[in-house]
Amino acid sequence: MTTVAWTPREMALLQAMGIPLWAPQPPEALTPAAVAPVPARPSDARSETPAPPEAPDALPRAASAAPQPAARRPDPPNAAEPATPAARPPVAAAEPLGTRPGGVKHMGWEALRDAVSGCQACGLCRSRRHTVFGVGHPQARWMLVGEAPGEQEDLQGEPFVGKAGQLLDNMLRSVGLTRADAPAEQQVYIANVLKCRPPANRNPEPAEVAQCEPYLKRQVELVAPKLILAMGRFAVQSLLGSQEPIGRLRGKVHQYHGVPLVVTYHPAYLLRNPLDKSRAWEDLCLALEVIETAGAGTGADPDR
Ligand code: URA
Repeated sequence: MTTVAWTPREMALLQAMGIPLWAPQPPEALTPAAVAPVPARPSDARSETPAPPEAPDALPRAASAAPQPAARRPDPPNAAEPATPAARPPVAAAEPLGTRPGGVKHMGWEALRDAVSGCQACGLCRSRRHTVFGVGHPQARWMLVGEAPGEQEDLQGEPFVGKAGQLLDNMLRSVGLTRADAPAEQQVYIANVLKCRPPANRNPEPAEVAQCEPYLKRQVELVAPKLILAMGRFAVQSLLGSQEPIGRLRGKVHQYHGVPLVVTYHPAYLLRNPLDKSRAWEDLCLALEVIETAGAGTGADPDR
């Protein structure tokens, strides 16, 4: 029988992403219960109560030196990836209360942050508790774009807090990156397409995406990253204007206003579909290649 020989680097990275490595198993480990997939969550329930088996708790020793993010609270599981996402209860977009401030395209960080926190350009301003602007290094080399805040993000005002955020942090750590304070080579910038939570975690409405788009565009201009990682359907639709499924857009380097862009699955989707983590790993490798080709290393020594 042929056995796969993983290098220590590969094992550490796969472990960080929660991808199980094959090894001979005692028969009892292969019972249906032992190999059953993670059950899908109800389509409208974003709060992830039980930690799924692939919850990324165990980190490779090599990665433990990276700065650790603050403790995370239960996560909003949004971002269905399949072309035919599970139906969500219809929650209508409310009428906007006002307009988006003018001059977004010339704003600096402070003005942009203020503009977002006071924004009333769509009905989401009625139900939000906090706007979720973005976090990370203002000149990061990697910029990650997700969908929209969920319940915890709305409460805390920070993107990706919760189980999906933990997985994201571990994926980042596997390539020597972090959201915590670090030099620009290692610290990413994370933003969402929408800065306000859609009620009941329904999908973003096209009008909401359109109203928020100038903020994200300005964030990209200010960060001027070497690479954008677009995570999930709504990030891809907003940044690339494409309705193609993720599966067709992965594996290529796209462009967003001159910035190389790599498409990958949303971390919340990966929690529900752990077998696709290996594809997400391929996407990270492609992103690393883009960064290396641009002559802007992550600072990571993946063999450490
Ligand atoms: N999902 C997202 O896309 N963004 C968040 O901030 C949290 C969950």
